[in-house]
Amino acid sequence: MNTNAQKICRIGVLISGRGSNMSALADAISDGRVPGGVIAIVISDHACAAGLARAAERGLETLVIERRGRTREAHEAEIIEALRTRNVDIVCLAGFMSLLSSHFIEAYRGSILNIHPSLLPAFPGLDAQRQALEYGVRWSGCTVHFVDETVDGGLIIEQRVVPVHDDDTEATLAARILIEEHQLYPAAVARVVRGDYEIHERRIIKRTFKV
Ligand code: GRF
Repeated sequence: MNTNAQKICRIGVLISGRGSNMSALADAISDGRVPGGVIAIVISDHACAAGLARAAERGLETLVIERRGRTREAHEAEIIEALRTRNVDIVCLAGFMSLLSSHFIEAYRGSILNIHPSLLPAFPGLDAQRQALEYGVRWSGCTVHFVDETVDGGLIIEQRVVPVHDDDTEATLAARILIEEHQLYPAAVARVVRGDYEIHERRIIKRTFKV
């Protein structure tokens, strides 16, 4: 028996649209950049999400769970059931546009990750790139964080910085940030899968580092 075998971490990815971060994560896993990680299911709350085809192209199981006029509780219960059925260990939000209730967050407390296109805590919520341009910051970026009951306010796992150029539009800035997102999310997921960190108040730091 191989006692050094790495425990497999089963990942559920929730999307609503294009799914480029989901694709980047899937490709990183295929390339061996997320040791121990495997995508168990990709769930979309929109049947027309382009990411569904991208997931299927990569051989991933996909599922559409639409809200269809149901309560948020009923919708989330179906998602949680689908994740549990597949023994999902961590949930990665990747452009998932539904706000999660505290019930969902409790079900996967400390195991839900999100990627946001700003340097949090600056510019949480919608249209982060537009907020950054309107505020006039010279640097922006992206953040992967744990999800709690706040809007984009959970503990920060990893961040990357990008410059804001004088001639930037929302689209050009978003495109520059997205390139970094596609590197950052797999790196952050790999870190969580490795589990070699400790939480000191709000800081996620290497386990070996003494404070
Ligand atoms: C990304 O910019 C991500 O940071 C934000 O939503 C967008 C999703 O894009 N949360 P994609 O669906 O992963 O292409």
